[in-house]
Amino acid sequence: MTKQSGGIAPTPTPVGMRSHYCGTLGIDEIGQTVSVCGWVAHRREHGEHLAFVDIRDHTGLVQCVIDGTHALRAEYVVRITGTVRSRPEGTRNLALETGEIEIGDCQVEILNASEPPPFVLDGHSETDEAVRLRYRYIDLRSEKMQRNLRLRATISNALRSSMVSQGFTEIETPLLWTPTPEGAREFAVPSRLQHGSFYVLPQSPQIAKQLAMVGGFDRYFQIARCLRDEDLRADRQFEFTQLDIEASFVSETDIRRFVASAVAAATWAVDGQPPDEIVEMTWAEARDRFGTDKPDLRFGMELVDLGNVVAETAFNAFRAPCVKAIRVAGGGGSGRSRLDALVDRAKSLGAKGLVWMRAVALSEGTIDLESPVAKFLSDAERLGIVQSTGALNGDLILIVADSHEIVCSVLGQLRVELGRMPVHEGARRFCWVIDFPMFEGFDDEGNLIAAHHPFTMPHPDDIERLTDDPLSVRALSYDLVLNGWELGSGSIRIHREDIQSLVFAALGISEEEVNARFGFLLGAFKYGAPPHGGFAVGLDRLVAILAGEENIREVIAFPKTQSGTDLMTGAPRPIAARHMRELGIRPSAPAKGVADPRNG
Ligand code: AMO
Ligand code: AMP
Repeated sequence: MTKQSGGIAPTPTPVGMRSHYCGTLGIDEIGQTVSVCGWVAHRREHGEHLAFVDIRDHTGLVQCVIDGTHALRAEYVVRITGTVRSRPEGTRNLALETGEIEIGDCQVEILNASEPPPFVLDGHSETDEAVRLRYRYIDLRSEKMQRNLRLRATISNALRSSMVSQGFTEIETPLLWTPTPEGAREFAVPSRLQHGSFYVLPQSPQIAKQLAMVGGFDRYFQIARCLRDEDLRADRQFEFTQLDIEASFVSETDIRRFVASAVAAATWAVDGQPPDEIVEMTWAEARDRFGTDKPDLRFGMELVDLGNVVAETAFNAFRAPCVKAIRVAGGGGSGRSRLDALVDRAKSLGAKGLVWMRAVALSEGTIDLESPVAKFLSDAERLGIVQSTGALNGDLILIVADSHEIVCSVLGQLRVELGRMPVHEGARRFCWVIDFPMFEGFDDEGNLIAAHHPFTMPHPDDIERLTDDPLSVRALSYDLVLNGWELGSGSIRIHREDIQSLVFAALGISEEEVNARFGFLLGAFKYGAPPHGGFAVGLDRLVAILAGEENIREVIAFPKTQSGTDLMTGAPRPIAARHMRELGIRPSAPAKGVADPRNG
């Protein structure tokens, strides 16, 4: 084994056509004859007969001094044999790991030619992402993609080892499956042998892992591929990976401990740092203080309740069930157009308006508030706002009055936008959000919507309100949040058929439908289902944050674009008419004017 860099597995001992990897050569090898294999990264001519050619493999670059008549062009695949020597004084490149040496007296074997590549891999040029994705196999040669995907492998290994050492058994569950209600649209696969019937690709192994608990496996895990046909965003793909776990005869705290150990193993493997302590707060507290169930704890700007301060106010806009503020430190210098933009933003998020107030120091040193609406507030109210928010000279106070829900969601969103910190920057602030509500509201048909999934156990203290006051029922469910991203979620499950039926009924899923879709699960619960619970960590999100990326596409080898297209293969594509007939699908005329997404 040779050199090792931040969290990535050590470079193996070279075998085959090479004696060394490019990036591992240094002054220790001076005088040795070596063979390296790789791609031509750049070529600089030196007079007519000499060229400096940088050869790249996944470990780095090495400079080779080559007879200038060789027809070596960018991305040619070569094997170079020569002698390592010190670079002449004044030509050393300390920015490069191998910058003190070069390979001279080179014999060059061209193993394969290359067309001129569509972009350069120098690590400095910005290439349009569509071009990178279309030629992903070239993009993968870049230092960044090599590092990210190797880091991903390191993290997966760390998670796997941690789960194994915690006594979990890895079990593979089917991809050709049946609907699992987790809230997203599902991908379906037509059956060739039973025309008109479909497999459904799993949104997660949720039901299968619960059945593994009924099957006595006690502690299951899987690094599982999940498929969801949902709108794609920076933190969402159709296909993604979860560290999926489930255990029997355990409490919520036990599960959280298993997950925390696995995540600690991952951060440890990446940079030798254990995560900071994982803060814990209830869903209600997270909503109240941060306006969201995904609190970003890297900065303050918490929501401050002004209910008491404006309880008797004469200002109409503030006569609302809930009035809250955030304090933007130093934001008082914002000009009118910036403030107008904030008001518009608040309205676009659903607020009726937004009051802004600048905190200014008066001559005697006290702070007052300047705002077009200041005149509608009493001295005591303005003082109360200053005191509750802790406003200092030069700060900006933003206030929204409305229902609790709107106030929290608007100010929570403004807080994140104003505090704007890319997810991977600064400290890693993990947080458990616990005691989620069981339901998040009603759908258009008046049925309750499950906040997690319908297998989540209601809080034992709240079960009796399931029928009369369902929105007040808490669930035994918990999320792990990191820097404002939901990293994972889990719950204690319902293991009793009677409670499961109650929940299905509350969700408006008829007995018929339940039997048709989940009869097998309820059937299993009749045969001695143990109490159980579990969790799933989004691996892509965890890797992105640990790799310093804001978009999970940067840590996925072959991701899809926002519109769900694989620019490299062109998928999704029409299939042959014969294939469709076999599947019992009637070919329909291809939509006119649909261009091959890879062209342009
Ligand atoms: P949930 O649906 O919350 O829970 O998913 C768990 C975690 O998976 C990640 N994730 C995604 N990552 C990338 N692209 C997506 N489209 C995507 N969707 C989800 C997130 C999320 O927190 N079966 C339950 C877990 C359980 O209860 O055990 C489940 O799948 O990081
Ligand atoms: P109006 O009475 O609608 O002219 O609003 C007077 C001021 O109060 C404006 O600055 C509005 O943006 C603000 N405002 C109105 N409704 C609300 C509200 N619900 N919450 C916060 N500010 C509001």
